[in-house]
Parts: sequence; structure tokens; C-alpha cells
Amino acid sequence: MSDPDRPFRPRRFQLQPAQDGRPLTLAPFTPEAADHLGPAVAAVGPWAHYRFEGQKIATAFKSFGDGTARYQLTCGGELAGAVVIVCPWLAGPYLQMLAVLPPFQNLGIGAAILAWYEAEARGHFRNLWLCVSGFNVNAQRFYLAHGYERAATIPELMQAGDDELLMRKRLANRYL
Ligand SMILES: CC(C)(COP(=O)(O)OP(=O)(O)OC[C@H]1O[C@@H](n2cnc3c(N)ncnc32)[C@H](O)[C@@H]1OP(=O)(O)O)[C@@H](O)C(=O)NCCC(=O)NCCS
Repeated sequence: MSDPDRPFRPRRFQLQPAQDGRPLTLAPFTPEAADHLGPAVAAVGPWAHYRFEGQKIATAFKSFGDGTARYQLTCGGELAGAVVIVCPWLAGPYLQMLAVLPPFQNLGIGAAILAWYEAEARGHFRNLWLCVSGFNVNAQRFYLAHGYERAATIPELMQAGDDELLMRKRLANRYL
């Protein structure tokens, strides 16, 4: 039987609101939201840098039941980004994608998602994991400010000349 306390279940989550008061929700993707957000995410950040294809991201958003949790983000009812989490990963979950679309950035939404990521995992796992590209210095600063530390550098994971930084936040002193 599935554990009702298991983190990152395929359900709707209400997050703390954005700084301008708009409500934030995470929920499993509808096909329409996946088709909208796939190309939108492919146009920003590391996904644009690595030339990900929007339609392939949309197809991945629609996958289900493979140990990966995928959520559409809405802000005040508008599609605002995407979150993908592999759980369990390495004595803790791995935040595979955190994407807040440009019109919704710098409103505390990224911070609200990291707070939720941490709250879901706390009590279940010792570590929180994520990766950030070496060129993405703003995102690195953002994660450092939220208590993540560099655990390793993965040279040229995606392509020659670009390193990825594996970052970790410790939640507990012992293995849970
Ligand atoms: C990085 C990101 C998740 C932060 O979300 P957010 O909702 O804008 O974050 P908040 O409002 O809570 O905090 C703002 C912080 O994010 C940083 N940020 C804002 N826009 C950003 C962008 N386009 N790319 C990277 N970092 C950005 C700001 O520099 C700010 O950091 P600071 O407070 O140290 O100056 C979001 O900007 C984003 O999705 N960027 C594009 C994709 C990306 O780089 N994702 C991370 C991949 S690992």
C-alpha cells in the first residue's frame, strides 16, 4: 500500500503566496499545461543554453509513475513555471528542474518552492540535492542564500566547456 506521508505525492500543493500576495500552487501537469510550459521552459535559463527542445520537455512533463514528481506552477491562476523532483535519489530527493518563467521572477516564488521542497523532505531524508550550471551565477547565489553548499563539480556533464555544480543542503545529522 502507498504511504500517505510519502513526500512529493502527485497532488495539489498550496505554497506560501508570492511577495505581491498572489496565491501559488503546484499540481500534476494537465496535458494542456505541459504543452504550454514545455516550450516556455525551453526558452529560458540552462534549457535555452543547452538547446533543449520544448516539445520533448512537454512530453517529459506528461510522464507518470517512474519515481519522478512533476508539477505545473501557477501564480494567481496563471501558468508560471515547472518543478521536477526525483525522489528518492541520494539519501534524499534531487530537484531536477526549478523553472520560474521571467514575468514571475524576483517575486519570492523560487524561495517559496525551496521552502516547500525542504518541508516535504524534512523528517524523511538527510539531504536535499540540486544541480546548477557553472555559468548560472545568479541561480548559484540564490541557492547559496537558501543554505545549499557545493558538494561536487561535475565537469562537462551536458556539453564541452560547461560544468555543473552539484549542491546539497543537510537536513539531519543522521541517516533517516
Ligand atoms: C533561479 C530562479 C529559480 C529563482 O526564482 P525566483 O522566483 O526569481 O527567486 P526569488 O524571487 O525567490 O529570489 C530571487 C533570486 O533569484 C535570482 N534570479 C532572478 N532571476 C534569475 C534568472 N533569470 N536566472 C537565475 N537567477 C535569477 C535573483 O538574482 C535573486 O537572487 P538574489 O536575491 O541573490 O539577487 C528563477 O529565476 C528561474 O527559474 N530562473 C531561470 C531558470 C533557472 O536558472 N533555474 C535554475 C536552474 S538550476
